[in-house]
Amino acid sequence: MKKKIAVLPGDGIGPEVMAQAINVLDCIAQKFGHEFIYTHGLVGGAAYDEYKEHLPQDTIDICNNADAILFGSVGGPVNAHTEEKWNNCEAKSILALRKAFNFNINLRKTEIYPELTALSPLKPDLVKNGLNIVVFRELLGDIYFGEHYLGERNSLRFASDVAEYNEEQIKSIAHLAFKTALTRNKNLVSVDKANVLATSKLWRQVVAEVALQYPDVKYQDMLVDNCAMQIIKNPAQFDVILTSNLFGDILSDELSVLSGSLGMMPSASFSSSGFALYEPAGGSAPDIAGENIANPIAQILSAAMMLGYSFAMHEEAKCIEEAIKTTIINGYRTQDLALGVASEKIVGTKEFTQQVIEAMQ
Ligand code: IPM
Ligand code: MG
Repeated sequence: MKKKIAVLPGDGIGPEVMAQAINVLDCIAQKFGHEFIYTHGLVGGAAYDEYKEHLPQDTIDICNNADAILFGSVGGPVNAHTEEKWNNCEAKSILALRKAFNFNINLRKTEIYPELTALSPLKPDLVKNGLNIVVFRELLGDIYFGEHYLGERNSLRFASDVAEYNEEQIKSIAHLAFKTALTRNKNLVSVDKANVLATSKLWRQVVAEVALQYPDVKYQDMLVDNCAMQIIKNPAQFDVILTSNLFGDILSDELSVLSGSLGMMPSASFSSSGFALYEPAGGSAPDIAGENIANPIAQILSAAMMLGYSFAMHEEAKCIEEAIKTTIINGYRTQDLALGVASEKIVGTKEFTQQVIEAMQ
């Protein structure tokens, strides 16, 4: 198969982990007889340097001409937001991309490998059998894209953010989440704040209606405050979590850290036409950029998700996922995964990927 990929490495560790994901894709192309055509585009601070914009039209055009988008990460040092280059850089890049391509569904996977359970901040007992949870997060509604106001009212400084949902937005993601649950452990938890919010009351009604079409899936509603607590109390109860934009943002960060490193969680954002963007859930980590120490796993797994979901290359995606497991079983670790035990081999970003590639062959 021949596929065109828009490659947007972005800032910080983005370019170096992206380079490794592409090495892995090249290996897949060779092994399975595919051709991947990469077109690089600038986004984030890197785009600002060149265009004085965080998401230039040239980059949008590259994405429009591609079969899928592979995104790295954007953003600068934490205390640099006073510079125009870094001010709101993440929102101006990634939120703008979501809007431009109607990416309304976000899928994030948490996996704890049995060899790495000791890295988890949770008690060993809670994660001893590993964890495998997916979050479906609605991405274009809720408080993110309603009207934002910051100004004055009644002579007081005043701000408001409007949260909005219509039933179609909820139905669309709910169907995909239930369909996915059917291919997994058939267990779906829908998360809301229906004891307070009108958007959550609608969310709950619509999800319950969709659930009737999937009688084989065990489904329950859970309030978001309870869910945040259950995730650290008994994470193994979760299989598929379905939730709205803001709750999904918060809960997916909570889930990503259960594995012990932010460098492990891949994600996919889909539009209803099926076009998609794949990116690591973690950030651009400018403090460790350029040192060949960043964990490339989330970026490589994002590329694997792209193969599976956008190109229906399921065997190829599996080949990458298995190779990462083998590399971990063989004791290779980037420094964020180090436990300080004798059996582990601490390697750099490139060397870790080299091991993944060897395991693929
Ligand atoms: C995420 C990020 C974004 C979000 C930020 C950068 C706007 O936190 O993808 O989870 O809130 O959606
Ligand atoms: Mg987030």
